[in-house]
Amino acid sequence: MLRRTILAAARSQRTRQLVTQAPVSRTVVRRFVAGGTVDDAVRVTRQLVDTGLAVSLDHLGEDTTAEAQAKTATAAYLELLERLRTGGLTGGAELSVKLSAIGLLLDPSMACENARAISEAADKAGTTVTIDMEESKTTDATLEIVRELRSDFPTLGLVLQAYLRRTEADCREFAYAGSRVRLCKGAYKEPEPVAFQDKLEVDRSYVRSLNVLMAGEGYPMLATHDPRLIAIADERAKWYDRAANTYEYQLLYGVRPDEQRRLAAADETVRVYVPYGDQWYAYLMRRLAERPANVAFFLRSLASKG
Ligand code: FDA
Repeated sequence: MLRRTILAAARSQRTRQLVTQAPVSRTVVRRFVAGGTVDDAVRVTRQLVDTGLAVSLDHLGEDTTAEAQAKTATAAYLELLERLRTGGLTGGAELSVKLSAIGLLLDPSMACENARAISEAADKAGTTVTIDMEESKTTDATLEIVRELRSDFPTLGLVLQAYLRRTEADCREFAYAGSRVRLCKGAYKEPEPVAFQDKLEVDRSYVRSLNVLMAGEGYPMLATHDPRLIAIADERAKWYDRAANTYEYQLLYGVRPDEQRRLAAADETVRVYVPYGDQWYAYLMRRLAERPANVAFFLRSLASKG
């Protein structure tokens, strides 16, 4: 209920103004976001890679409304790739890209060409790209672009969201050899006909989808902080006799860092999703919506500064 309320409030211009202009927001943002610049992204990547964690970098921004903005977002990824390449970090770091940031809502074919340019550069630099999944109205278009780009870039990753009723079936389509699929619960406000609303139902859907991916021949990327789901994934990996390099865990930067280290120490492959850039508002609001404790942390910081 709180989650849906926060996600609904996040759409209001007034809330956006209030949150982005409150000086304290910067402190809270620093917990979840590497920083505003590509230097920050590279610095945090190096720190994580040095401790044995892999990274997926997200240049923040979504809902792009002009072609020039889509070009700028694409250029930011190309610059990041060059910095990762020259810094010797492409072995441990890949990219996460939101198609809405590179023009999906303006023109899907433009977004596809921008994603192609990023994938090509990533390929040359010796790394990969995962296409994030956004609101359900974009799921079909996103999967269409992934299918098209995978003919040239077979390692291109995609994301499926367990809260969508369609996801178990999508997992069946994408559980083929070499297919990198990130499974997450889903972070947007979705209507009842397309998405489970009840947390327990979402968890059950996650487990069914996890079963399909772990039983299949692809490379599952299990993106969750949920201890119960991580334990089930661990159990399934043993059941299906999967070696640690045939699947991975993914967690968000700033969320359960102790668990990230614990999994890595247990010889699991662990990738940390690291966002950077100035466009942090929508990302921060989704993190606050996920967990009442995050809202309390935000309000406490607000009170202590006020
Ligand atoms: P949930 O939020 O339900 O938390 C379950 C449990 O985990 C909690 O009860 C608690 O025990 C523990 N927990 C969670 N946060 C904690 C914290 N801060 N401290 C301590 N314990 C905590 N979404 C999307 O729609 N599209 C996408 O492309 C992506 N991509 C993505 C990549 C990666 C790497 C991750 C980890 C997540 C995403 N997501 C996403 C977000 C995802 O859909 C989801 O909103 C969040 O991961 C939160 O869901 P959890 O699975 O962590 O469970």
